[in-house]
Amino acid sequence: MNHLLSIKDLSQEQLKDLLALAKKIKGNPAEYRNALDGKSVVMLFEKPSLRTRVSFDIGINKLGGHCLYLDQQNGALGKREPVSDFAANISCWADAIVARTFLHSTIEGLAEHGSVPVINALSDLYHPCQGLADFLTLSEKFDDVSKVKLAYVGDGNNVTHSLMYGAAILGATMTVICPPGQFPDGQVVVEAQSLAAQHGGQLILTSDIEEIAQQDAIYTDTWISMGDDSNLSDIEAKFKPYQVNAAMMKKAGANFFMHCLPAYRGVEVTADVVDGEGSLILQQAENRMHAQNAVLVTLLGQ
Ligand code: CP
Ligand code: NVA
Repeated sequence: MNHLLSIKDLSQEQLKDLLALAKKIKGNPAEYRNALDGKSVVMLFEKPSLRTRVSFDIGINKLGGHCLYLDQQNGALGKREPVSDFAANISCWADAIVARTFLHSTIEGLAEHGSVPVINALSDLYHPCQGLADFLTLSEKFDDVSKVKLAYVGDGNNVTHSLMYGAAILGATMTVICPPGQFPDGQVVVEAQSLAAQHGGQLILTSDIEEIAQQDAIYTDTWISMGDDSNLSDIEAKFKPYQVNAAMMKKAGANFFMHCLPAYRGVEVTADVVDGEGSLILQQAENRMHAQNAVLVTLLGQ
């Protein structure tokens, strides 16, 4: 493993090892206090963030490393100087790059032109750190993740893509229910279907909300991702039947609700569900740090 650009690049063994290491670090942080001793990580963010920025910064600190946050005030990626120069220069000083970008190709460019590991902190295509934290969360609730039935309802986006790859590689069952025209990227679907077939998983895509039956957890995300200039009023009617609410949770028989956050109460999910008993949102948020620390220790640890 040289970088973490997408979950699809991980073998089942690598993915399971990352989840196991995340659990170990979470259970015994003192053992990893010096894991990144003397290592520096540069974080490049083109978009806003709460969870990712804070969990990487504090997580790197807990591993004994140092991190530096650069936003677009310091020169937008590819504008003041090319992405290739950015990557080559940062590689002179830092031991890893964590990047949140609009275009996934920018993250690929950093990996291609830099000489240090690159970790995708969200792009238009993927959110692998979120996916890892989410499967860590599910593995804390279910002994065998391959038996989990996860439904994703709403906009097929970067988070959906990473969840699809993760579920497929782990051999789990995932049902993706999206309004017509809002499905995940076609190539990602083909790749995830092939990974699911290889690992004994199942990936179902439909617009029919009636197919929600018999799920362990329902996951949703914002209907309008960062960089999407849609107006809520223009898309609301199309998405409304896909709002996660108590009736949908009941119909699915799902005990757990998941969301990467930020959540828009009364839009993609009702407040009673996102703030309710079965909501895993804070466990997911906490696990961002442990999952990312497992990635950092794997890529940089001594
Ligand atoms: N879930 C997530 O990535 O949150 P932030 O956008 O706040 O980092
Ligand atoms: N799909 C969302 C995830 C935010 C963490 C976005 O890209 O804005």
